[in-house]
Amino acid sequence: MRITVLPGDGIGPEIMDATLRVLDASGAQLSYDIRPAGKLALETEGTLLPEATLQSIAENKIALKGPITTPIGHGFSSVNVALRRHFDLYQNIRPVTLPGPLETKFPGVDLVLFRENTEDLYAGIEEVISEDEVHSIKVITRGASQRILRAAFQWAQREGANRVTVITKANIMKKADGLFLEVAREVQREFPEIELQELLVDHMAMELVLHPERYHILVTENLYGDILSDLAAGLIGGLGLAAGVNRGEEISIYEAVHGSAPDIAGKGLANPTALILSACLMLEHHGQKEAAQKIRRAVYTALSKKENRTPDLGGPATMEEYSRAIIEALAE
Ligand code: NAI
Ligand code: MG
Repeated sequence: MRITVLPGDGIGPEIMDATLRVLDASGAQLSYDIRPAGKLALETEGTLLPEATLQSIAENKIALKGPITTPIGHGFSSVNVALRRHFDLYQNIRPVTLPGPLETKFPGVDLVLFRENTEDLYAGIEEVISEDEVHSIKVITRGASQRILRAAFQWAQREGANRVTVITKANIMKKADGLFLEVAREVQREFPEIELQELLVDHMAMELVLHPERYHILVTENLYGDILSDLAAGLIGGLGLAAGVNRGEEISIYEAVHGSAPDIAGKGLANPTALILSACLMLEHHGQKEAAQKIRRAVYTALSKKENRTPDLGGPATMEEYSRAIIEALAE
């Protein structure tokens, strides 16, 4: 399987290097088309998102991506948003589970959050009425709602899960969130074996910090999904562990939830787990479950020793030491 690899910038190239070494040691069948994007591409090619990089993603249809810094004052607002728009990656899927025997208040967390990635208040339609008044327009369409809700139900069906939780604020935004909820009820009828649970977003936030283990597959609009997915990452110990994918009909870009972490870039202290687990999602979705399982087990084994943990998890290890522990566990 040939994939496009975007190392990105900041901690991106370091954690990508560690991730590719882990992938190679796992026996995964992959070949890499390594392409620049972001700050490094701007320096070497004069553009944040070179045409050849886009072409490579379009051809391979699968990309593994490191974080990309959003420079202030250049062309478009964000390479990440540009990529999602260009390839219409309407699903943002963020599974949240503890990858190892880490001390946490919530050992039983096993969530998969489906976030609509193209509309809502993120459509960027804002109108300045006067110096003292601005309107920001929330866009919810039947089509975009249908496709994200179907994606969540299909995931549930594949997994054999018996419930999907839809999150809105339909009691207040009766029309916009009302439409999302109406579509959720319609889509549920296509999956009679799966129950639809309806929760309001404020209630969901409380539930997630009280007993997150009672929930599994969550589906929601763009803004609520953005906020709840960071909340969920916090439940398992932070950004160094949170994996994800941006997916369209044909193309998937796998990436960690976190950014380029300029404060620790180049110091060899970054935690590559989130990117490694994003690569596992990739292997699982594209027919290489065995390699993914081997890697997950090796991550678990490495994290079971405190001396292997990176500073964000309270440990003393450098990224190199931690990655080597994973590779050693793979060889066992
Ligand atoms: P960030 O996620 O880069 O960093 C937040 C905090 O978490 C920092 O203290 C950082 O050191 C820590 N952290 C993040 N990832 C870590 C890891 N793997 N291991 C250990 N510690 C880690 O968020 P921030 O600082 O708001 O953004 C920095 C840049 O990244 C910005 O230019 C932003 O636009 C960009 N960004 C890019 C994303 C992407 O490429 N998908 C996503 C989010 C932000
Ligand atoms: Mg966010």
